[in-house]
Amino acid sequence: MFKSILRPRALNCVRTLATAAEEKAPRVKKFQIYRWNPDTPEVQPKMQTYEIDLNKCGPMVLDALLKIKNEQDATLTLRRSCREGICGSCAMNIGGRNTLACLCRIDQDTTKETKVYPLPHMFVVRDLVPDLTHFYKQYKSIQPYLQRDTHPADGRENLQSIEDRAKLDGLYECILCACCSTSCPSYWWNQQQYLGPAVLMQAYRWLIDSRDQATAERKAMLQNSMSLYRCHTIMNCARTCPKGLNPGKAIAEIKKQLAFD
Ligand code: SF4
Ligand code: SF4
Ligand code: FES
Repeated sequence: MFKSILRPRALNCVRTLATAAEEKAPRVKKFQIYRWNPDTPEVQPKMQTYEIDLNKCGPMVLDALLKIKNEQDATLTLRRSCREGICGSCAMNIGGRNTLACLCRIDQDTTKETKVYPLPHMFVVRDLVPDLTHFYKQYKSIQPYLQRDTHPADGRENLQSIEDRAKLDGLYECILCACCSTSCPSYWWNQQQYLGPAVLMQAYRWLIDSRDQATAERKAMLQNSMSLYRCHTIMNCARTCPKGLNPGKAIAEIKKQLAFD
């Protein structure tokens, strides 16, 4: 049978600390959250206010949202999976900025409300869940995988020098959260044809991969007035990326490659 290794005195200390936490004056923070339910399309979208005691909540906005969902309103709908900035599914607009709810600390100023919306300029599936169907179609369109006509004679992996591998740093880390694309004014207005910063950065990632042999086809796909050239270097994308990446720079590099071809 499992035995506690804490002695009675230590246990008393733990209990005292727990009681002290419970007795702390509540620090009530208001969250205003975008709500829309596709089952009642006649009801306009609205902002709904919830209150959370920050003493009883984890430090991140995702902690607050899950606390609301678990304890106050099970109908609140959001996506999340990893809760550590890896899956990209909790991307939303928090306090006016596109970011990941799991990496975004709650503003501890209880006099200010925090507003939470779904990613902007996207169709909404429900509440904080944007429809990313078109975004994923665009990602698929750049053929984001290694393409080669020849294969290593030994049937094993395609080797790459350390220097060539290093060229992919700052690109491969993208988690396709769509925070950048949905903060880009050019993407807002030309979403059907302009690929947007997230997808273009991945297009560049495959363009410069030393193992890939489809460079000419990849360039040809981007050589038109809309797919790439709608980027006007506004740089909202780099400012908002929660992973600290710079899609605007990758787009500029593609433009250079196409210009000097
Ligand atoms: S570049 Fe950054 S913001 Fe854009 S999709 Fe990738 S991780 Fe998200
Ligand atoms: S740099 Fe280009 S992709 Fe990035 S926000 Fe500006 S227009 Fe959009
Ligand atoms: S839950 Fe995966 S990135 Fe936030």
